[in-house]
This record gives sequence, structure tokens and C-alpha cells, in this order.
Amino acid sequence: MFETEKERELIIDRLSEDYRKNNFIDPHVYENYKIKRGLREPDGSGVMVGATRISSVRGYVMEDGDRIPAPGQLIYRGIDVSSLLKGYEAEGRFGFEEVVYLLLMGKLPTYEELAEFKALLSSVRELPDNFTEDMIIKAPSRDVMNKMARSVLALYSYDDNPDDLSLQNLLRQSIQLIARLPIIAVQAYQVKKRHYDKESMYLHIPSSDMGTAENFLHIMRQDQKFTSEEAHLLDACLIMHAEHGAGNNSTFTSRVLSSTGTDTYSAIAASIGSLKGPRHGGANLQVCNMMEDIKANVADWNNDDEIHEYLCKILRKQAGDHSGLIYGMGHAVYTLSDPRAVALKERAGRLAEVKGMDDEFRLISAVERLAGGAFAEVRGGDKIICANVDLYSGFIYRMLGIPTELYTPLFTIARVAGWCSHRVEELSSGSRVMRPAYKFIGGKHLYVPINNRK
Ligand code: COA
Repeated sequence: MFETEKERELIIDRLSEDYRKNNFIDPHVYENYKIKRGLREPDGSGVMVGATRISSVRGYVMEDGDRIPAPGQLIYRGIDVSSLLKGYEAEGRFGFEEVVYLLLMGKLPTYEELAEFKALLSSVRELPDNFTEDMIIKAPSRDVMNKMARSVLALYSYDDNPDDLSLQNLLRQSIQLIARLPIIAVQAYQVKKRHYDKESMYLHIPSSDMGTAENFLHIMRQDQKFTSEEAHLLDACLIMHAEHGAGNNSTFTSRVLSSTGTDTYSAIAASIGSLKGPRHGGANLQVCNMMEDIKANVADWNNDDEIHEYLCKILRKQAGDHSGLIYGMGHAVYTLSDPRAVALKERAGRLAEVKGMDDEFRLISAVERLAGGAFAEVRGGDKIICANVDLYSGFIYRMLGIPTELYTPLFTIARVAGWCSHRVEELSSGSRVMRPAYKFIGGKHLYVPINNRK
């Protein structure tokens, strides 16, 4: 029926036009029916849909029904994440594996328990035989997140017991996925580089003596070399990204799918798809694009007025990617500060000095300092917007020589710990299948015989 691609395109254009005519939803509908759009209460806080012991995200206090802005806190299993990070740094050791244990198990491990847990992760890090050849090399993707999701789904076929929902099986699958995602991400990136960018690829073997952060740098870098400072900084980033409450989109996705009783691979692949979105994990990449744009268009990086004007232009959709968003700023829960951004900023500043990139660090800090004023000028009101974790994470990754294609995958490598912990909790706490409702506003229509339709 169709001889050229152009003919097909024209039909799709017409279908799109027809769709727009028939499918408009008036925004007032949400108010009229008191619909919790985006699963949010009118004050912006999330609709309460469950209980968890895993973590808590605190950004404000409620007083007489009003949200009072407060410094942000992120709590893993009752412990403030900033104090975890400070503890690991004071003891001069890596913390990500311990955080994984804490999130999954609900308590800090003893020395022996941690050693055993790390050994367990190491023992399952290598991908199954021929997985790299058959699943990654033979089917490359331009997008590493897409390849990660597909690889996770494919691991189902390499598991002799994929659908068993017993606690033992869930923990086994979780530990395997947490250990393997760094390898999958780096291999997917290398194959993408070879296949699409026509550059050489390196498929280094992970080391059984190294944890997640060190192994990532060890297999990602062509020469496999890295400093202890670099590995510790990456470890801090992984700790800060490991978990963020049950309501964040990708974790909620893991809980929604888990509530149906589906397998681990289906649930985690769906979470990866969620995290890829630019309003979620994909924002760290948008921050980098935005900073490149600001660097190119602001002549004097020390001139606050010029930076302020440019931020106003971004908010007015006259500059940047024309979305009207200052990426890396604002958060659904945090008000005065995002503790992850606070921790990463401090560490980014220290590395920027070492790497001679303090001018760029000052520019990002200026965006943070001036975004609130620009927002007030353009949008009015007294809304406080703070820097979120993505403002500094991409900058750190760039200083670590990590390619942009791996920014959101790194978020995934960390957050899979949270997704698995919530999946185990959902399934072991007698969950009910999640099934919210949508108000039907489509009206009533009668069947019209096909020959009578216009
Ligand atoms: N730039 C421009 N506008 C912003 C903004 C930003 N950085 N942060 C918030 N806003 C706007 C929102 O779009 C919303 O506008 P609307 O009323 O027209 O819908 C309004 O301010 C209120 O937003 P709020 O309720 O505080 O936050 P939210 O939950 O709707 O959005 C984010 C939270 C994170 C999606 C939002 O801050 C954002 O888009 N930030 C930029 C992207 C980003 O950095 N994402 C990473 C998050 S960790």
C-alpha cells in the first residue's frame, strides 16, 4: 500500500492532527473533580499510598496545615545519610556496599557481615557465559539506559529460577543485579562507542578485589588507572544516589510492578525506563547541556548581573533548551536544601581545585545562588528553590573523566539498591495490587455503522 517512507509519514501526521482534535483534556477538569494530578496533594506533597521502613525524605515541616520550609534531610533506615558519608570518610573506607546492606537488610553490618556481603557481591559480579557476546555486543543501542533495561530483562532467561518470589530468591536476584549493573553499563557504553561512534572499545574484566566504585573506574577507563581520591568521590556519589523514598518515580515503579507479583527482572527493567526520563534521573545530563549553553552565552562568568539575566531568559523559554527549566534546581520535597547537593557541592569544590576547574565550579555555584532571584523575577511569588543533587553530580562525573552517556547509568547503578529494597519490602509486607482510578470524562457515544461514518 505504501511505496515510500514519506507516504507513511504523511499518514502519521494526519493521525496526530486527528488525535489532537479528539483528545483534549481541559486542565480545569483536575480541579473540578479534585483529581490528585501527579499523585500530589494540592500543596504539592505526595499522596500517601503506603508505609516503609527503608528511608525518609524530609524537606519541610507542617504547622497548622502549612508547609514550613526546612533544611533537607535524607534518612536511610533511620540514619542521616550525611552522617553515614562522614563516618566512611573518617574511617577511610568505601561505603556503598555497606549502604546496600543497610537498605536491604535494615541494619548496619558488623565487620564480618560486611566482609561476607562484599565477597558475595564479588562472586556474582561477572555476567553469565556468553551474555556479553549475545546480549550486548550483538544488539547495541545508542542509549546505555535502553541497553541496561534490555539486559536486565534478558537476564531472566539466564536465571534457572526467575519467578520464585521467596525472600531467599528475591535477595539472591537483588544481590546479582546490584553487582552486575556496573558491568552491563560500562559494556553497553563501550559497544555503543565501537558501533555508533566508530571508536575502539575495551571490555576489561572486573576485579574481585575491588568494590563497586573502584571496579567502575577500573573497567571504564582505557588504562584502568584511577586515584584513591577519585574512587572515594565516586563512592560518595553512589551513596547519595542509592535511595530516595518510596514515592520517587522509579522506586514507585518498582513497587507498582512488584505489587502484581511479576518477576524481579520485569520490575527492575521498568524502573530503569522510569529513571531515564529527563524529569527524573535524566536531569543530570540536562544540567550538563545547560551549563555548556551558559558557558557559551555568558561572557563574564564573574558577573552576577549577566548570569541573572541569562537565567531569566532560560525561565522565559528564550534560551537554553526552551523548556523554561533551570535544570539542577528545584525539588518536589526539598525546600531550603537538598542534602545530597550540599554533600556533593562540598566535594566537587575540593576536586575542582585539584583539577584546576574552579572557574567552572564558581559558575555553577553562581547559578545556584542566583536561580531563586531569577525565578522570583520571572514567575513572581516567594517560592524557594534549592539546588538538587543533579546540579553538581554531572560536574563531578566530568571531572572524573566519565563520559556523559554514563551519567544516568551511574544513577541506575546506585539506585538499583533502593529499587530492590522496596521490591523486597513490597512483597514481604503482604501488599495489595496497586490500582488507582482515573475519572472518565470522555462522554457517551453510540456505535455508528462503518458506512455511515464521516
Ligand atoms: N526551573 C523552572 N521552573 C521550575 C523549576 C526549575 N528548576 N523548579 C520548579 N519549577 C516550577 C515547576 O515547573 C512548577 O511550575 P508549574 O506551577 O507551572 O507547574 C512550579 O515551579 C512549582 O514546582 P514545585 O511544586 O516546586 O516542584 P515540582 O514537584 O512541580 O517539580 C522538579 C520538581 C524537580 C520536577 C522541578 O523542580 C524541575 O523541573 N526542576 C528542574 C529539573 C531537575 O533538576 N530535575 C531533577 C530533580 S532531582
